[in-house]
Amino acid sequence: MAEISKNANRVKSIGILTSGGDCPGLNAVIRAIVRAVAHEGVEVFGFLEGFTGLVENRFQTLSDADCSGLLTVGGTILRTSRNKPNKMPTPDGGVRDMTGAAIETYRRMNLDCLVCLGGGGTQKSAFHLMSEGGINVVTAPKTIDNDVFGTDICFGYDTGMTIGAEAIDRLHTTASSHHRVMIVDVMGHNTGWLALGSGVASGADVILIPEIPYSLNVVAESLLERMRHGKRFSIVVVAEGATETVAEPSRKRADRAKASELKNKEASSSQPKSIILAEYLQSATGLETRISSLGYLQRGGIPTPADRILCTAFGAKAAELVLTRKFGNMVAKRGEDFVPVPLKDVAGKRRAVPLDHPLLQAARAVNTCLGDRT
Ligand code: F6P
Repeated sequence: MAEISKNANRVKSIGILTSGGDCPGLNAVIRAIVRAVAHEGVEVFGFLEGFTGLVENRFQTLSDADCSGLLTVGGTILRTSRNKPNKMPTPDGGVRDMTGAAIETYRRMNLDCLVCLGGGGTQKSAFHLMSEGGINVVTAPKTIDNDVFGTDICFGYDTGMTIGAEAIDRLHTTASSHHRVMIVDVMGHNTGWLALGSGVASGADVILIPEIPYSLNVVAESLLERMRHGKRFSIVVVAEGATETVAEPSRKRADRAKASELKNKEASSSQPKSIILAEYLQSATGLETRISSLGYLQRGGIPTPADRILCTAFGAKAAELVLTRKFGNMVAKRGEDFVPVPLKDVAGKRRAVPLDHPLLQAARAVNTCLGDRT
């Protein structure tokens, strides 16, 4: 570990918060940070429900002993919320800038640093507190969506992806027994990492992600092609952010009418895309079609061993940055290394699946339809 300051500038107390959607591994990171800094005599305060706890001065102390058994516990012991310091909800349904209150809590408690564990929104809020309020922050990238900019991987992703793959494995056997098309709805917000990872790991036949707009015709044709090869069931994984291509010149006239009816239905309803997709594919292919939505299952339960390892390393590196006063950084994984990346280079950006990503190439190589070509 880099040299820790032994002088008056030594870090004495820090705050930690977890913000945004929860995910497996948050507690493992909290554990690693607390253990690593407690060793150096640093006092730790955990703010409750994300930035809300900081604004409302609600916290609990966190000691080494409090972290026993936390490595495998899902969720977050500090609880979480999606509230941002500059947009805190008010009782009348509006929002109010409470940045001042958040900074006041930090100053009153004499903290040396605030560690924020969260996804893209959290990185942005942490950067806001640092640039507007002048406080010291260190962050780590959390999300099953795996879309935080600047890091090769986020903690929580491996668990979400593994749960998705295991669920799809189970859907495979029932789809096969009934000769059905099974559409599997997965989370992922506006990126396709989760769908792509779960889909490739479970051998899905079609994987639709936001980065590659899909054609209903192409998807239908790929299912029919499988039928022609004697494969009487198919698995279609759909990321929540996936969208259909705008122009579909090749779509048959009859299909076009049906598809536009379905599109209008989608626009005027809160139905997930998978319902629209299922109706279209059933009518276009004549195959019986069912939908399974994985939803919040992908965020629940214990972290995988790979995530536990990642979380321990992310937490240990975050603690190192705190103790050596390398503030204003997010811990990122780059190759085999855990490195600081300036928050100003991360805040407000998102990491989409690059169109030349090796996993997309591998998926195409094994004849997985990505919705743009058969
Ligand atoms: O960011 C994680 C995530 O689970 C996304 O995949 C999903 O879009 C979103 O959170 C759901 O948010 P909420 O928990 O607010 O319903």
